[in-house]
Amino acid sequence: MRPSAQFRSAQEILETLVSSEMSPKVLVNWGHRNRFAGSKDRRKIRDIVYHCLRNKRYLLHRWSNKESKGDGRNLVLSYLYDHYHNDHLTDFNIFFGSRDFDLQPLSDTERNILLNKFLKREAIREDPVKYSYPDFLDKSLKRSLGKDFSKIMELFLKRASVFIRANKIKISTKDLTLKLEAEGFEIESQIKNRDALKVLNASNKLKLSEHFSEGLFEFQDLGSQQVVNNIAVKEGMSILDFCAGGGGKSLALASYFSNNIELYAYDLNSSRLKAFKIRAERACANIKFLDDRMLFVKVFDAVIVDAPCSGSGTWRRDPFAKWNLSLSEINKLSEIQYSILNQVANYVNKSGLIFYITCSLLDEENSEVISRFLKSNNDYCLEREHFISPLEGGDGFFLSVLKKNK
Ligand SMILES: C[S@@+](CC[C@H](N)C(=O)[O-])C[C@H]1O[C@@H](n2cnc3c(N)ncnc32)[C@H](O)[C@@H]1O
Repeated sequence: MRPSAQFRSAQEILETLVSSEMSPKVLVNWGHRNRFAGSKDRRKIRDIVYHCLRNKRYLLHRWSNKESKGDGRNLVLSYLYDHYHNDHLTDFNIFFGSRDFDLQPLSDTERNILLNKFLKREAIREDPVKYSYPDFLDKSLKRSLGKDFSKIMELFLKRASVFIRANKIKISTKDLTLKLEAEGFEIESQIKNRDALKVLNASNKLKLSEHFSEGLFEFQDLGSQQVVNNIAVKEGMSILDFCAGGGGKSLALASYFSNNIELYAYDLNSSRLKAFKIRAERACANIKFLDDRMLFVKVFDAVIVDAPCSGSGTWRRDPFAKWNLSLSEINKLSEIQYSILNQVANYVNKSGLIFYITCSLLDEENSEVISRFLKSNNDYCLEREHFISPLEGGDGFFLSVLKKNK
């Protein structure tokens, strides 16, 4: 596809996302309807769409409804201007065309807006516009992130890196690195993290690699791996992963302990365990899956609660989550988080531990939920709290370790 057709496709996808359905499904459906598009085109279109969603408010900041031919088009035009502008917009010509499937040429009004009204990010004073997030989150983000607020929000406007985790049940990190390098992947090891590898030139080829189907590695963000590094459990302990979902945390623990740990997994939505079971089999990870009946007859040395949350720590990889969030949704989530903690409090042995995890940046879902829980459960005390900052390279995560003392 020519650039003009790629940008036109991005325009149409963005229009649907912004006006009716803010979901990655829109991209998937576009892919199904446009099978002619090759993998490079799809990647380019996806990159444009994701960048526009990460930067949505900034890119739309000078377009008023009156002058607009739709937010999809405005986003794409601002994206082009932001990336390739010069004073005369002459370099722009290759991005436009007159065929039905091309990005249509700039109108005089559009040219005028881009040249005379569009501000550089540094010149924008309102933080929610500059860093593209909903207004209602302004106070909460600033309070929760403190002095790192601007640095983190700026980072969230850029694309996330791709990280994988070596499956120690099957291979060492060093041997995996050699195998992937032999296939042409550029690998960067992570000094601070035991099994994480950054893939600098990741593409679809990585998932199609036989090393993946052999279970030698898993895709897992650095932040998610770091949070598992902070789950201080020991060989021989029984551990329940209560919100197991796709199994990211359990699989990393099984790998680290080379299966010398008693791991149980549960999820309220049992269909979410399907993918986990496939991943566990591929990785040769020993995990016992529990259903509702089995849950109530056992207590554990440790329970991991990787709670449902706003996902605000993952906005770089999932910019959809940022625009789907509302104040009532955050309140609803913190109620669910509190009630899950109260439920699992009954599944913990005397002097056992709860590891409460979210991939949220917001105090409302993190320290505030923990304070509320501790107030109403005086048999628990706070052992430690840890925030894994996106400034460390991956997603943002919060971990609180609670100890049962009676
Ligand atoms: C953040 S996701 C878990 C991600 C997973 N641990 C991983 O690392 O891939 C949260 C999970 O909690 C589950 N969940 C939601 N409410 C729950 C509840 N009341 N009890 C148990 N699981 C729940 C959801 O179905 C979802 O799979």
